[in-house]
Amino acid sequence: MNYIAETGALKKAGLSIVILLFICCRGFAQAQNVPVNFRVDNLICEYKINPIAVDAANPRMSWKLITQDRNIQQTYYEIRVGTNAVSLTKGKDLIWTSGKVPSDESAHVYYGGPMLTSREKCYWQVRVWNNKNQVTPWSMVNFWKMGLLKQEDWSAKWIQDNYQSDTTGGPSPMFRKTFKLDRKIRAAHLYITAHGVFEAQINGKRVGNDYFAPGWTSYNKRLQYQVYDVTSLLRKGENATGVTIGDGWYRGYTYNRKKNVYGKKLALLYQLEIVYTNGKRELITSDKSWKVAYGPIRSSSFFDGEVYDARKEKSGWTEPLYKDATWDTVKTDESIKSNLITTIGPTVKKHEKFLPLKVFTTPAGEKVIDFGQNLVGWVQFKLKAKTGDTIRLFHAEVLDQKGNFYTKNLRTAKQEITYVFKSDSVESYEPHFTFQGFRYLKVVGYSGPLDSTNIAAYALYSDMAQTGKFSTSNPLVNQLQHNIQWGQKGNFIDVPTDCPQRDERMGWTGDAQAFVRTATFNMDVAGFFTKWLKDLSADQHRDGAVPYVIPNVLDSVSSAASGWSDVATIAPWTIYLAYGDKQVLQQQYESMKAWVGYIQLHSRNYLWDTGNHFGDWLFYAGTNYEDGAALTDKNLIAQAFYAYSTQLLINAARILKRGDDVQKYTQLLYNVKKAFQSEYVTPNGRMISGTQTSYVLALNFDLLPENLRESAAKRLVNNIQDYDEHITTGFLGTPYICHVLSRFGHTDIAYDLLMKESYPSWLYPVKHGATTIWERWDGIKPDGSFEDPGMNSFNHYAYGAIGDWMYRVITGINTDENSPGFHRIIISPHPGGKLTSAQAELETLYGRVKSAWSIDNGIFTLDVIVPPNATAEIVLPSVTDQITENGLDINTEKEITGIQKIGNDEHLNVGSGTYHFVYTLKTFGKHVN
Ligand code: BGC
Repeated sequence: MNYIAETGALKKAGLSIVILLFICCRGFAQAQNVPVNFRVDNLICEYKINPIAVDAANPRMSWKLITQDRNIQQTYYEIRVGTNAVSLTKGKDLIWTSGKVPSDESAHVYYGGPMLTSREKCYWQVRVWNNKNQVTPWSMVNFWKMGLLKQEDWSAKWIQDNYQSDTTGGPSPMFRKTFKLDRKIRAAHLYITAHGVFEAQINGKRVGNDYFAPGWTSYNKRLQYQVYDVTSLLRKGENATGVTIGDGWYRGYTYNRKKNVYGKKLALLYQLEIVYTNGKRELITSDKSWKVAYGPIRSSSFFDGEVYDARKEKSGWTEPLYKDATWDTVKTDESIKSNLITTIGPTVKKHEKFLPLKVFTTPAGEKVIDFGQNLVGWVQFKLKAKTGDTIRLFHAEVLDQKGNFYTKNLRTAKQEITYVFKSDSVESYEPHFTFQGFRYLKVVGYSGPLDSTNIAAYALYSDMAQTGKFSTSNPLVNQLQHNIQWGQKGNFIDVPTDCPQRDERMGWTGDAQAFVRTATFNMDVAGFFTKWLKDLSADQHRDGAVPYVIPNVLDSVSSAASGWSDVATIAPWTIYLAYGDKQVLQQQYESMKAWVGYIQLHSRNYLWDTGNHFGDWLFYAGTNYEDGAALTDKNLIAQAFYAYSTQLLINAARILKRGDDVQKYTQLLYNVKKAFQSEYVTPNGRMISGTQTSYVLALNFDLLPENLRESAAKRLVNNIQDYDEHITTGFLGTPYICHVLSRFGHTDIAYDLLMKESYPSWLYPVKHGATTIWERWDGIKPDGSFEDPGMNSFNHYAYGAIGDWMYRVITGINTDENSPGFHRIIISPHPGGKLTSAQAELETLYGRVKSAWSIDNGIFTLDVIVPPNATAEIVLPSVTDQITENGLDINTEKEITGIQKIGNDEHLNVGSGTYHFVYTLKTFGKHVN
């Protein structure tokens, strides 16, 4: 949770304040005889550390308790908010104080003071009391700063170049302005956005480290602006600034090579606000005084790449002394500003660097570099050629059967970088407004050596903190986890996309709903989905239809599909569970309701059997098995998701205390389930589609009468065994199949599916060298040939949805749904699959949760960490004899309560702390060593 757009200088300044205050507070604490090992840390506001563009009227604060002691619960908290960091610590100049509030809530606590105004900076601290009558010192001081809350706060004007024609796919305009600052600067903030994607500079230095800003939203209704603390980039005297703009999502090519989706003209909105040391303010804004020219970026496109002619660079163009006499004037534009919003999610940043693993010549004679990982980002180089020489870089995910460079599966996306050298000396380059999905790079037009000293690949993705880790004793499963994480990295580029390489790269809703729960385990995606869901609401049609993709760049007419549009209910509920974030339910509630309303409208007698549905997309269609046998009736699926969305709406209504809705939709759900049963289930519980997905959905969504569930689960098991323990589900059945098996006591079969190495299975791609999740179970067929290039991405996260089961069942880390966000944790590990160990960690809003087990000679060991202010129910599986915790009989430890044996499992309650359990495991079945 480390998203901050500010310069190093501010960070340093902030850090010293923090250190100073921390020392002061500790001094104070010791004087008060407060235990030094109990403190508060990790203060965040709206999921960010020291955010500088908050638009929430009542920002939410969260903190973590730090202690080594066991069983620590917060009993009270006190927050104080002030205008000045130093006086805050003396309790002076306060804007608001919460007083001492009896509460165990340390996440999402609302600011409750007077209304905040644009640009207002609030410093805050918190202290807490615990159940052992201890109080922490006041925490470090953190802050948040409000964004521009009103349209009138914007004095800047939209500016554009003067071209009349449609220049999509053409050169990137560069906007420039010089200005003089006649005093010493105390602070300066840049508020900036664009129609297109921008890169800004001040006095020759890049502003911030975001890429593809302002990100992708439903631009006509919601356009994010970014805020940067640029104090350190400015100086007293002459200054210059410049901004380059690329087509990006605004007008660049999208699906079916449609362009200009949001408008034809690139534009800039720029507002630099300076405060001098004497308090006087200065404003530098985009207006008619700016100049514009075209430079080295001859074209840029997400699908096609970038053409960069270094000979056209304008050296020093963001320095004051640069001569811009030949530059053109700009025109101002009256585009709306009412759609401007602050950036709430993480921005895209540059992450891992990959050096060439191998540089080789393919059988076809092409020079190719293997970076060893299918990644999303770009290649950066430092090469020497001659003026006017052109190097061309092509990007591919895979090599074909013969070992040649293969790009057919990119469809029309070119993924090509063209660079023209400007000199005979070494030149450095990285692209600007494009990204590629690739592992292999083909180099054309450069004959010199290529190695780790002069070429590298970089991954770019939304800056989400990695919160989860998962590994086992099985290297193939570990590689699967690696692939899931890389599928997430590569497809979380400001919106959750289906794939990052071919001519698609859109926020396909079905893929997102399938993967969202897994995503919450790997990384902090709270802000990412909160933002995207707002776009969903914005693009939802009046009749409640949720478009296939968000932001909607497809049709403007109402369109909706089961299992896709249901992301409207599934994603908010998942974010609520993972982060305990009620606000996201509030924010999305009307949208959730509208979506269920849409289905109601299109149903007869509670049966939804109309409309276009994608069904169980890319289910196993058979090669060795009877073709089509795994096909699930699309209307059955629609009815199942109708019930599920209604259930989630009821859940949300209950949390938000909307009693009338709970009643109304509970009645609806009853009827929807009845309609499901009478249309798709025989009286004995046989489904009309006898497929895995059919049984999985019926069981996972509780659609069958209780007395038919066990037998239905058995039918599911039989079906799996008929396929020789292979999975046959597509996008819709896959996320739930192992959960359903575990819930009905068939974890051994779930493990069979997980451990299967032949097609179709999760490990089949792993055995074929995958480093990401494939779109299809058999992207590369057993004979080495490819699936249909029209639909064969090697980086599609949907099947990676198994990750959720791996965390929640193998290592057994889960949140109690009644105390979400891991405030109350369930640790219920399930050994199996011949694993001898498995471990997972998850950084939650309360701190780190851990579950790590191992089996050695029948001795089961489980290490658990429960963070402070959380509690846990631990379920120890397959217990026969005495259990020890840290060498002591658990019955003798007073911190362990509620010990109860249910079946073979021992249930117990613990508070926060570190626990080490050991006992002899009762062997159960072939799956445990
Ligand atoms: C996408 C999928 C998507 C699907 C809908 C495809 O082209 O890549 O992942 O969900 O269309 O049918």
